[in-house]
Amino acid sequence: MSVSNMISDLRTASPTILPSMLMCDFANLADEVERLEDAGVTALHLDVMDGVFVPNFTYGMLLVAAIRKITELPLDVHLMMVNPEKYISAFAEAGASVITIHAEAVEDPIPVVQDIRKFGCAAGIAINPLTPVEVILPALPYVDLVLVMSVPAGFGGQSFDSSVLQKFEQIRSAPGGEKVLLEIDGGINVDTIGVATESGAQLLVAGSAIFKYDDYAVAISNMMSQVKCNS
Ligand code: DX5
Ligand code: ZN
Repeated sequence: MSVSNMISDLRTASPTILPSMLMCDFANLADEVERLEDAGVTALHLDVMDGVFVPNFTYGMLLVAAIRKITELPLDVHLMMVNPEKYISAFAEAGASVITIHAEAVEDPIPVVQDIRKFGCAAGIAINPLTPVEVILPALPYVDLVLVMSVPAGFGGQSFDSSVLQKFEQIRSAPGGEKVLLEIDGGINVDTIGVATESGAQLLVAGSAIFKYDDYAVAISNMMSQVKCNS
């Protein structure tokens, strides 16, 4: 599928919940992916952490490639790592559909997001809660997606920081921001998904709020029942 079709499918599906695989049972990965597909998810969110940019360490391109083999769902790869520019081709070849880099991890995000597109993926840029939107404004015309972190990147299960929500309006009203997909990540659950969607978030990443339940479809539909569309 072309990048523009994938992005337009995600836009059509939005607001939609993307499971963060950080919380899944890795010993039964294929089964976990199948259960999420059966629950009707539109994409999977994969958290890559390097132990340097964030204190936590997760997985790299081998796991992205393993998941690519077992599903056709878009893979939304969130790189929480230093020097992401060195690994764009590797994650693209592993089967990433969207590659999102952190603004705080690079000096100039523009050549890196251009590279992501050159390798055939959609390009995203992420900002931590303490990073102001101004930092990413020059990059907006070059990205398909902006990821607003509602917890400091690094760990699942942290509490939602609602002070980040005003960033969505700032992004939307900036040049280039009218067309980007808006994603939020961290602390999304039945209590927070309402304000997140009301503020303009279209892709809602959720880890613990899905994986702590036995029935993923129920967990997702409980959250979806609290969505408030602003469009
Ligand atoms: C945090 C990760 C998130 C996280 C989400 O650094 O980027 O994707 O795993 O987990 P919850 O939904 O539990 O906050
Ligand atoms: Zn993430």
